[in-house]
Amino acid sequence: MRNLANRAPMLTRTGTKARWLADLPPVASDSLLALIALAEADPRNDKIDVGVGVFRDAVGNTPILKVMKEAERRLLETQATKAYLGSAGDKRFAELLRPILLGPHASDERIAGVQTPGGCGALRLGFELAAEANPNARVLVGTPTWPNHPPIIRSVRLEQIDYPYYERGQGIIRFEDMIAALEGAEPGDIALLHGCCHNPTGADLSEDQWREVVRVVSERGLLPLIDIAYQGFGRGLDEDAFGVRLMLDACDEVIIAQSCDKNFSVYRDRVGCLFVKTGSKGATETAMAHVFQRARVMWSMPPDHGAAAVHIILDDKQLRAEWLIELAAMRDRINAVRQRIAGGDPRLAFIGRQYGMFSMLPLSKEQVLKLREDDAIYMADSGRFNVVGLGDDQIDRFIAAVVEAMDS
Ligand SMILES: Cc1ncc(COP(=O)(O)O)c(C=O)c1O
Repeated sequence: MRNLANRAPMLTRTGTKARWLADLPPVASDSLLALIALAEADPRNDKIDVGVGVFRDAVGNTPILKVMKEAERRLLETQATKAYLGSAGDKRFAELLRPILLGPHASDERIAGVQTPGGCGALRLGFELAAEANPNARVLVGTPTWPNHPPIIRSVRLEQIDYPYYERGQGIIRFEDMIAALEGAEPGDIALLHGCCHNPTGADLSEDQWREVVRVVSERGLLPLIDIAYQGFGRGLDEDAFGVRLMLDACDEVIIAQSCDKNFSVYRDRVGCLFVKTGSKGATETAMAHVFQRARVMWSMPPDHGAAAVHIILDDKQLRAEWLIELAAMRDRINAVRQRIAGGDPRLAFIGRQYGMFSMLPLSKEQVLKLREDDAIYMADSGRFNVVGLGDDQIDRFIAAVVEAMDS
């Protein structure tokens, strides 16, 4: 055993000197978490926090779904053991998600799913698999994207190639740039795509645009990796899976990272699923063996509680129907708030044509900071805001302040 108290330089296998924990450089703080802390610390009573990334109801709460409470009650009553489940986690949970996400592809034996710790876990595991298959693949990423995508890509040591996805001034997708980037990629490169409810822009591909993207991805021989974290928050459960299913129609190899943390409102319980499709059942089995091996190294097995409760909901006709109603209520609120903001000023009309919780306001960083200081309105420096961060009684004040900021 080495004596750590003795800090004499020691040689590593590469012959370099050991570095100590105390030598670690500082880490830039996560700007969204810092924003939440700032908002919390603001003593003004009328403050508005639209930086936060969770669903909120009309009075500003993120309630546990009624159906989830019932499932948890049943789980407590019936769970007889907490023995290990293995790297695959709750297999029935992954099976029950298949029709919801994959639709007509649910019975395709070339597609396998595995429970993961949230959408983040699914993304990491999906990229691990892709990198293991092709360490030279480059990942095409439309910007702006969810801030956790780049570090996850870096963590598997793949090169990231950015292309512009969104024109902020006009609130539209830079579709020609997107297609040009995908057409310029090499076979085997990875196309990271948002399944629905694009975070941070809210700008989703139309069905025609999906058709075009799918055509280019399949013709160029790219590997699509679709991140779908908000299914059911946009236009509807099936509608939000349109792109995923179209991609499965056209491509032999597809990776899908799914989160259930938002649509079951179980954020901290970390509920997600990774789906992998290859050209044959055998190849998928081999790919999944790699997936389980990677999962075993990273987290051994996913946390059980949230997925077990989702399993109970989806396996029970009545609970499932109740979940759909509660999900529709969340979606309706998101879309109603969007329409109210869109009606507030012609320059905000684009917000009514977008989906999911997030959109980006056409504001400079200075204007965002001024809103923070003068009006106690907290949003990301980029102008990204959570439409349902607004309580019903805050919407008019928010619109007035944003319009004033745009005019300043
Ligand atoms: C685009 C996107 N992908 C993935 C995730 C990860 O979700 P989870 O909390 O389930 O890890 C999020 C969460 O904010 C997200 O916005």
